[in-house]
Amino acid sequence: MSNIVLIAVLIILGAVVLKNFLFSSISTIDIDADDDNTKSEVTVVQVYTPKTLYKYNGFDMEQIYIAVRGTVYDVSKSRQFYGPSGPYNVFAGHDASRGLAKNSFEPEMVKSFEEKIDTLSDLDASEIKSLDGWEEMFKSKYPVVGTLVNGDDE
Ligand code: HEM
Repeated sequence: MSNIVLIAVLIILGAVVLKNFLFSSISTIDIDADDDNTKSEVTVVQVYTPKTLYKYNGFDMEQIYIAVRGTVYDVSKSRQFYGPSGPYNVFAGHDASRGLAKNSFEPEMVKSFEEKIDTLSDLDASEIKSLDGWEEMFKSKYPVVGTLVNGDDE
């Protein structure tokens, strides 16, 4: 009789161990799968200030970033436009919003990295529309790498 009880206990224990083993291996597979998906789909998004964004001007860093309305885009693939000898280099490492709104790449269109972010509060309706169009182009063409915020000391 006691042998039967012992065998029953061993069977139950064996079942519990087997269940834990199966359960833990399934969850490990799930976690790994999630990790892989995350790595392949998510780009690291960082916070930039005008000063930290400035480094991505194509001279100091090979990568070129441009901000439009607070979103920072990696435009490195268009070095011919924004790189050191490109026509729109003035925007590299800067917030290009004002220049895109006013269709101008004059130097006064961008703020220095020591200034606060342009509020764009003076733009008229047609300038806002122009900026809307450019923003759509940036969104569809370039990966987002971060957001632009004012630094503590700016
Ligand atoms: C002088 C007259 C201008 C000419 C002949 C001109 C010409 C061009 C050409 C040929 C492209 C390439 C289009 C493509 O292949 O997708 C382009 C793109 C562009 N232009 Fe101009 N442009 C002029 C003025 C301006 C001005 C004043 C601005 C100021 C905002 C500007 C900003 C841009 C931008 C941001 C792009 C897109 C670059 C990109 O794809 O990231 N252009 N322009």
